[in-house]
Amino acid sequence: MQCFIINTVIFVNLCCFLGVFVSSKKIPDYVPVCKKSNPQFEKCILDAIEVVRPHLSKGIAKMKIPPSEPLVIPMLEVVRDLESLRVNAKLKDLKVYGVTSFVVKKLKVDLAKLAVYLMIPNMYVTAEYDVDGRLLVVPLRGKGLFKGNFTNSEADIKGTAKTITNKKGTEFLQIKDIKAKIRVGDSAIKFNNQDRENAAITETAANFINQNKKEVLRIISPIVEEISEAFIVQFGNAIFRAVPMAEMLPE
Ligand SMILES: *[C@@H]1O[C@H](CO)[C@@H](O)[C@H](O)[C@H]1NC(C)=O
Repeated sequence: MQCFIINTVIFVNLCCFLGVFVSSKKIPDYVPVCKKSNPQFEKCILDAIEVVRPHLSKGIAKMKIPPSEPLVIPMLEVVRDLESLRVNAKLKDLKVYGVTSFVVKKLKVDLAKLAVYLMIPNMYVTAEYDVDGRLLVVPLRGKGLFKGNFTNSEADIKGTAKTITNKKGTEFLQIKDIKAKIRVGDSAIKFNNQDRENAAITETAANFINQNKKEVLRIISPIVEEISEAFIVQFGNAIFRAVPMAEMLPE
């Protein structure tokens, strides 16, 4: 369950990153502009990220970048029926702390290819959960408050974009496809269960997850990646729709 949270973090990072080479009316003055013709375009973006970073906590409304310290996801539902994982989970008021301290390890930006490799040293996550299912042989069942610590999370995101034109002839960017690879270095999770009859089950599940981190993460990763990709497309495209191409990527 903890991993579903990580993907959101990744998405926000990408948003920040997508947002920073934007300028003009839609974009606040404090956000630096990186011109396409700049021979050090990528360095320009990396520098811009550092300028923008302190503003990410509260978000940048005009650019559709959400507040990200903490990052709040009101509701997330995960339903899967796999051999290793059968789950029906509702997560409410999911909060992720620590995302704005992301480190950009690698970056490549052009229209045809977008590649970013991020590391997040520490994340602290809370969420209300309501879950039913089974992880390998361990039942997952209960309602309560989830808490988790995640260290050295890495995200390798690759994608492509295209331009679309609206009725007025204004060009906008749109994400064409995206692939996210996500890896968590270490994790520690806890369930504070509210319904008494499932307290023991939840305790067993938490212990199992904490003692079998590698295997659990391997099972959950494809789901996390799929959800991340959906988030990136949805929120990335919201940013792209908010800012015309000419402002996003000036010549
Ligand atoms: C997460 O880290 C904090 C601060 O180090 C600690 O107080 C808390 O108990 C940790 N939570 C879990 C679930 O390990």
